[in-house]
Amino acid sequence: MDIREEIKKRVVETEKIIDSFLPKEEGLQKQIMEAMNYSVRAGGKRLRPILMFETYRLFGGKSKVIEPFMAAIEMIHTYSLVHDDLPAMDNDEYRRGKKTTHAVFGEAMGILAGDALLNYAFETASQAFDLEPENIKVGKAMQILAKKAGIYGMVGGQTVDILAENDNEMTEEKLHFIYHLKTGALIESAMLIGAVLAGATKNEQKLMEKAASSVGLAFQIQDDILDVTSTTEVLGKPVGSDEKNNKTTYVTFAGLEKAKNDVSRLTELAVSDMDSLVVKNEFLTELLKYLISREK
Ligand code: IPE
Ligand code: IPE
Ligand code: MG
Ligand code: MG
Ligand code: MG
Repeated sequence: MDIREEIKKRVVETEKIIDSFLPKEEGLQKQIMEAMNYSVRAGGKRLRPILMFETYRLFGGKSKVIEPFMAAIEMIHTYSLVHDDLPAMDNDEYRRGKKTTHAVFGEAMGILAGDALLNYAFETASQAFDLEPENIKVGKAMQILAKKAGIYGMVGGQTVDILAENDNEMTEEKLHFIYHLKTGALIESAMLIGAVLAGATKNEQKLMEKAASSVGLAFQIQDDILDVTSTTEVLGKPVGSDEKNNKTTYVTFAGLEKAKNDVSRLTELAVSDMDSLVVKNEFLTELLKYLISREK
């Protein structure tokens, strides 16, 4: 399998789906739709919707009910980036190879575009009820989407991340807490929603959530590595952002070598968890392994 080619195909298909759910740019409030669409269409790896779809496929899912959730998770993820880049947070000017949303539309519109994307994510996901009104799994999926994005998930992690700036007493436990929530939660959300909507058993759901948690941790550690080893051109966002904001990252805490080893170790853990399932999705396994060496 040429994993790069396969990923490219998935990105094209996923972007078509996401695009079909974006709002029309019209009305007196047109500017907010423009800012939303600007940030979502700017690009990105589309990892979360792809992980969601491939987990759905892994457990035999075949319906279009997954599509509003794929768009919704990317909207929530994109909102988290729009707000993460704001002057009050990481204060970054580039994202996905373009000027950040607040840099183009102003800070107030940056804040509103994030709010709008978060809300529109739920407006979008709830369209799954229109597709399958009798499907009670849709309600469960909405619950996961809400919880993993909030104070027990991404927002909770971002909160501790911000509080920990200039923290000289960082511990490994706290760093794990931050990564598990700020990055792990949305990846868990993606994979768990895929599993739930496809009808995976409770045990299978638990196993996928655990695997996704390892993937999330590995993904954020790799993000920290790239912040010091990559270039702005390749990443499409500024390198050195963590140092600028006095963040203790996995790299400053544990060193580059251990960080790299842990990305591999955590990914292998996720892969071996998934190997214990009866069902298989070769692409999904290859994708996870590919992420170890991702360059952006
Ligand atoms: C960036 O996420 C923020 C982190 C959680 C590390 P991605 O690296 O998935 O960003 P895009 O979607 O590809 O732009
Ligand atoms: C942010 O982590 C993760 C989010 C929940 C947005 P970072 O601040 O390291 O993400 P990047 O490097 O700006 O993408
Ligand atoms: Mg940040
Ligand atoms: Mg940031
Ligand atoms: Mg980063």
